Order: sequence, then structure tokens, then C-alpha cells
Amino acid sequence: MTNTRRSRSRQRLGYSRGVQSLATPSTQTWIGSLLLLALLAGCGKPDPADHYVRPEQVMDFAKLFGQNCSGCHGMDGQLGPAPPLNDPLFQMIISDSQISDLIHKGREGYAMPAFAIAEGGPLSDAQIQVIVDGVRKQWKSDLPAETPEPPVYQVSQDDPAGVRDGNVDAGKKLFTTVCMKCHGADGREADGQSSGDGGILSHAFGELVSDQLIRRIIITGRPDLDMPDYVELGKQSDLKRPLTEQEIIDLAAYVRSAQHAPKPVPQRVAL
Ligand code: HEC
Ligand code: HEC
Repeated sequence: MTNTRRSRSRQRLGYSRGVQSLATPSTQTWIGSLLLLALLAGCGKPDPADHYVRPEQVMDFAKLFGQNCSGCHGMDGQLGPAPPLNDPLFQMIISDSQISDLIHKGREGYAMPAFAIAEGGPLSDAQIQVIVDGVRKQWKSDLPAETPEPPVYQVSQDDPAGVRDGNVDAGKKLFTTVCMKCHGADGREADGQSSGDGGILSHAFGELVSDQLIRRIIITGRPDLDMPDYVELGKQSDLKRPLTEQEIIDLAAYVRSAQHAPKPVPQRVAL
């Protein structure tokens, strides 16, 4: 009570009569201890890290990734709503220029935005390079020497997952053999943390993801959500061996065709 009143009257004094009149012996000690505190706290030496850095001058990978990517790809490049980046197999199949290109231009039609200033984004070419280098340094690691050559990231640029030439019927059979035990016959199981309530074969999920993403997930799985990669997917199924390139293409073709199948007419409307 008394303290509050005193500090209130100090404030009033300060405003009305100026600093001069504040310099009574007791306020002198008060100011003195404040100065001492300030010195002890190191206020005399400004910390360069506290300086405001203009957004276009940020060149630190952790900051750039934290501000621009982690909201979707997760703090450590995993467990976000967008596909994980911290996966060694993914890092092995994608090239520096593909990563750089994606950051520059985004993935048109999907939630991956364009970041280059030239594309209306916030980042300079130099900053994008810092991110590419950081993503590599942080998450690219050598796979064991005996690892067989994995499938390519893209079958071709205009048909990344090769779905045009894929065999939908063969893909459907493979889905039953390889994917159904976790995703269910209609793709509704595996309790979609990322694929939503409709499941991976739903129209709604299909709208959100690109052909490229489907291919990539069949190759790398989602290690952060316990979906195995193409080697383990095949080995753990009746095939008892890694999926082949053609099987990956056929699976992607089937998943896409199921997602794009006409929506079933609702039987009744829930109120
Ligand atoms: C051992 C269980 C398991 C098997 C087998 C499996 N998955 Fe998955 N899959 C998961 C889990 C768990 C998730 C994450 C939760 C979700 O999205 O449903 C997932 C997610 C996905 C996603 C969404 C990924 C994302 O980033 O949103 C796709 C697409 C997918 N799986 C396709 C397949 C296909 C195609 C096959 C067969 C070739 C397959 N899965 C086999 C467990 C499995
Ligand atoms: C608003 C959400 C969002 C932000 C922010 C974002 N991404 Fe993405 N990103 C996505 C989505 C969604 C995809 C997958 C799109 C698809 O193909 O369906 C993706 C795909 C990617 C891919 C390709 C992954 C693959 O499996 O093919 C890379 C690499 C990538 N992003 C890097 C980055 C980097 C680096 C940043 C920061 C500079 C970033 N992203 C910011 C949502 C985002």
C-alpha cells in the first residue's frame, strides 16, 4: 500500500517538476543502485545478438528455417503437417537443385509456397542457398555402403510419379498386398494424422497432395509416423522383397485413380 503510494508520487514528481527536483538524497541512492544493477546486468555492453536484423539480412539457417519452414515441416524437419525433410532416404533421392527450385518456386497448386523475391516471396537467392545448405548439412547422411541404388525422386518432370503410364489394376492388387493391412481396403485406416479423416484414398486428401508427394511417400514412408519405406514395405508384405520401380509407379497410379474417382453419392444427410 505505502509502496504503491510512494512510487505513484515519485512518478507524479518526475513528470511535473523534472529530474532536478528528484535528486533528493534518497532518490540519489535509488538512481545509484539502478545504475549499479544496470552495469551488473551487462547493459553497458550491448549484445550483438540483441540488435535488430533486417529480415533480408538474416543468414542463419536455424532462424531462416524456423521463420519460414518449421510451421509446416516441423521444428526439426519432421512431424509437421507437411512431409518430413529430416529423412536420410528422402535427402538421398532429392538433389540440391530440386530443393532449391522448390524453395524458389514452391509447388504450384499445393500448400508449398514460393519463397524467392522474384516469385513474390520474402527470401533472397543467397538466403535460399543458406537454407539448401543447412537442410543438407543438418539432415543428409550417408546410407550404409551396401544400400542398393534407390528409386529416383521424379520419373519425369511433367509426370513426376509416372502415373500416366502406370497400371492401375496392378497397383490395386499391390495395395491389397502391401498397404491394406495398415490403411484398410478403402484407405481409411492408419488413423490419419496427416491424411485426415477421409484417409489416403479419399478425394479430400487427393486434392491436398501432388503426384510427387504420393510417389515420395511410397519410397520413403513416413519414418516420423511409423510408415515404413519401400524396402521394408515390400519385405514386410507377402512379396518378401523391396518394391520395384514399376511397382512404385503402379501403386501411385492406383492411389491417384482411387482419389480421383467420382465421389460416392451420400446415402443420407446427417443433421
Ligand atoms: C505398417 C503400416 C503402413 C503400411 C504398410 C503403409 N502405410 Fe502409409 N501410412 C502409415 C501411417 C502410420 C501413416 C501416417 C498416418 C496417416 O496419414 O494415415 C501413413 C501415411 C500415408 C500417406 C500420407 C502421407 C502424408 O504425408 O500425409 C500415404 C499417401 C500413404 N501412407 C500411402 C501408403 C501406401 C501407398 C502404402 C502401400 C504401398 C502404405 N502407405 C503402406 C502406415 C502404413
Ligand atoms: C504453408 C506450408 C509450407 C511452408 C511454409 C513450407 N512448405 Fe515445403 N511443402 C509444403 C507441402 C504441403 C509440401 C508437399 C506438397 C505436395 O507435393 O503435395 C511441401 C514440399 C516441400 C519439399 C518437397 C518434399 C517432397 O516430398 O517432395 C521440400 C524440399 C520443401 N517443401 C521444403 C521447404 C522449405 C525449405 C521451406 C521453407 C523455406 C518450406 N518447404 C516451407 C508446405 C510448406
